[in-house]
Amino acid sequence: MDVRPYATEDQHLWVVSDLTPGLDGGPQRVGANYVLGISPASTSLAQLTIRDQVGTSLDLGTGCGVQALHMTGHVDKVVATDVNTRALWMTSFNAALNDVAAQVDVRNGSFFEPVAGETFDLIATNPPFVISPATGERLVYRDSGLPGDRVVEDIVRAAPDLLNLGGWCQILANWVISADRPWDERLAGWLGEETDSLIVQREILDPAAYVELWLKDSGHWGGSDYLFRYDTWLTWMENQGIEGIGFGWINLHKTGAADPRRELVEWPYDVEQPIAPALAAWGGAVRQPIDLDTHLVAPADLQEESLGAPGAADPSAIVLRQQRGLRRAHSADTVTAALVGACDGDLSLGQILDAVSSLLDLDADETRETYLPVARTLVDQGFLTVAGA
Ligand SMILES: C[S@@+](CC[C@H](N)C(=O)[O-])C[C@H]1O[C@@H](n2cnc3c(N)ncnc32)[C@H](O)[C@@H]1O
Repeated sequence: MDVRPYATEDQHLWVVSDLTPGLDGGPQRVGANYVLGISPASTSLAQLTIRDQVGTSLDLGTGCGVQALHMTGHVDKVVATDVNTRALWMTSFNAALNDVAAQVDVRNGSFFEPVAGETFDLIATNPPFVISPATGERLVYRDSGLPGDRVVEDIVRAAPDLLNLGGWCQILANWVISADRPWDERLAGWLGEETDSLIVQREILDPAAYVELWLKDSGHWGGSDYLFRYDTWLTWMENQGIEGIGFGWINLHKTGAADPRRELVEWPYDVEQPIAPALAAWGGAVRQPIDLDTHLVAPADLQEESLGAPGAADPSAIVLRQQRGLRRAHSADTVTAALVGACDGDLSLGQILDAVSSLLDLDADETRETYLPVARTLVDQGFLTVAGA
């Protein structure tokens, strides 16, 4: 077994799991009931999980229990589920080892079966999302047994009914990028009502690199059947019309509102970690009402970059760039840059837009009409915040 110390922001833990294939240079292959240790995927999910103090949470597909252990730091009652009885045993063992067994309710069962009829304030899951032909042995730590990305779709579709009002479901996932449909359009089709959704595509893997990655992960790299497995998997992807595999974060926030807010964004760039506070801030920002009487503030970390020829009257490009959170960039025109520059909470949005239109000799009504939606987007994306919010 692998036994290692693991520190969260406020806990010093010990975590037991199965050995990582190849870590000691040995040619190990993982067995069907292999229990994953703390992988880069586990850490990614831990960093995007919103750590508000809440009553109940669900760690679906708990493995060695790493997410459940994190949750004991800010959740009263944690339910951890899995179909692998070795994983359940390890989660129970790790909970006892870290003196949090009373907080963790370990349950056997597939997907949402063991929690039927219950609701949670937080669901965090790193499900078995690997997209494979599902031929040969099923490695339960990564294969759902469902075709393509169905496992992720099923969780996204089911989650709203399992959330309390105000609750979050956060999923680390792979999804298919098919030749015939944009990824965001496809995933938007899975989203239900009463839930705001922020989906961030962090990476696109090409099929060959993806197959290599996962054959290596299971210890098959360099084995006698490596080329056969590689070829079978890649051919299947080709036949399925899979052009690439998206990797990213799905964040669902149950608001109960009839007008769901959605953002599906490709953002492969470096972000501030842990990213969770920025995701929680998005959930709040998209629900802030914005009108011409709203007073807005530019956050302290926002920087403006101007580019242009020396001595030119106007810059040829202006970029607003966040230094924190998702570290988003927004390409701004002169009015937007002037608007953001004037947002210190003193004047209302309408007053600022009127002043800018007068300075730039623009029609005031038209400027208001054009830039109110721009201000809405800037608030949603964290370039502006509502004063006092
Ligand atoms: C990628 S591992 C994640 C482990 C851990 N939560 C983490 O973040 O590292 C996926 C887990 O889902 C479990 N699993 C597979 N099929 C499942 C199913 N149908 N229902 C619930 N859990 C399942 C696997 O046994 C495995 O422990």
